[in-house]
Amino acid sequence: MRKILVTGGCGYIGSHTIVDLLEHGYEVISIDDNSRSSAFSVNGIEKITGKKVKNYKVDLKNFDETQAVFQENTDIAGVIHFAAYKAVGESVAAPLLYFENNLFSLINLLKCVEEFSIPHFVFSSSCTVYGNPDSIPVTEAFPIKKAESPYGATKQMGEEMLTDFTKNGACDAILLRYFNPVGAHPSAILGELPIGKPQNLVPAITQTAIGKLPKMKVFGNDYDTRDGSCIRDYIHVCDIAHAHTLAIQYLENTKNEGPCDIFNLGTGLGVTVLEAIQTFEEVSGVKLNYEIAPRRPGDVIAIYANNDKAVNKLGWQIKYGIKEMMKTAWDWELKLKAEADSVKNN
Ligand code: UD1
Repeated sequence: MRKILVTGGCGYIGSHTIVDLLEHGYEVISIDDNSRSSAFSVNGIEKITGKKVKNYKVDLKNFDETQAVFQENTDIAGVIHFAAYKAVGESVAAPLLYFENNLFSLINLLKCVEEFSIPHFVFSSSCTVYGNPDSIPVTEAFPIKKAESPYGATKQMGEEMLTDFTKNGACDAILLRYFNPVGAHPSAILGELPIGKPQNLVPAITQTAIGKLPKMKVFGNDYDTRDGSCIRDYIHVCDIAHAHTLAIQYLENTKNEGPCDIFNLGTGLGVTVLEAIQTFEEVSGVKLNYEIAPRRPGDVIAIYANNDKAVNKLGWQIKYGIKEMMKTAWDWELKLKAEADSVKNN
């Protein structure tokens, strides 16, 4: 069984990806410092799959501790690197925190990849690298725009680092540019756990509907779109997760054309904020308390993916539509509430 090291394995996309890897015959170990995630995710992964995962509680900024994980596991066939800070607003307020965390951890990891001759590396990137695109849908060949935030800059620098690193044959890499990952595992055992007040749309919707937040804001209804609100490409986290398994298989089968290949991960469909809310109301039966608010600075007007490359080359098939995205996100929120209520009552 090939062993994959997943960094950030207790986080939102990392935990769903581990489930997918285990279901496709891989052995998985994880590194996560749990500074922004819960070690309980490992229990959830084990519950869903019936398989064991070892999480090393290691800060990737600590080179010696990171190296020790590779020394203990000399049979790692590939690395999937999720561990990073991802809050755009926080990155604007504390840029050095983002540069230090996201870049030092990547450098340390790549030093280990080189030292231990790990052949395959998959990097979590973001459609944020395209900025406000000149046209939509965007293909992987679209130009990279100046980053809107230090968070976005760390994704761009990560991509550049890997492009240069793989040129000298150290390993082969795939950069996966996620559009807007949402939803939760259909079992409602794993899902997103935002820290503090959620900044992203779907957790803001579900937390408002459940009553954790009094009201949510729709940031702008005067954009040049079909209903005035911004357009995004929401993609179910389990579809994103499976693309990582396919990316590893693609590298293992040496199907990659160059040392560093790039894939967009989106559905190819644009959904407005108001359409997302309407779909949520339909599938949950809950009327959402929201108001139209001013535009959020830095928001891109409209973006969605051309995903032909991932579909044709990775063999990626999207299983979940916007309804399932909203339904699984809502089931997860309901399950969190049921758990909180049972703690309160005991
Ligand atoms: C943001 C980041 C992106 C990051 C992604 C992580 C920016 C510019 N981009 O994407 O780099 O990879 O999160 O998931 O911040 N909205 C509301 N009300 C809310 C929250 C959001 O109307 O309470 C709207 C936003 O204005 C936007 C859409 O919902 O139009 C999606 O927002 P969000 O979920 O934050 O994702 P992005 O901004 O697309």
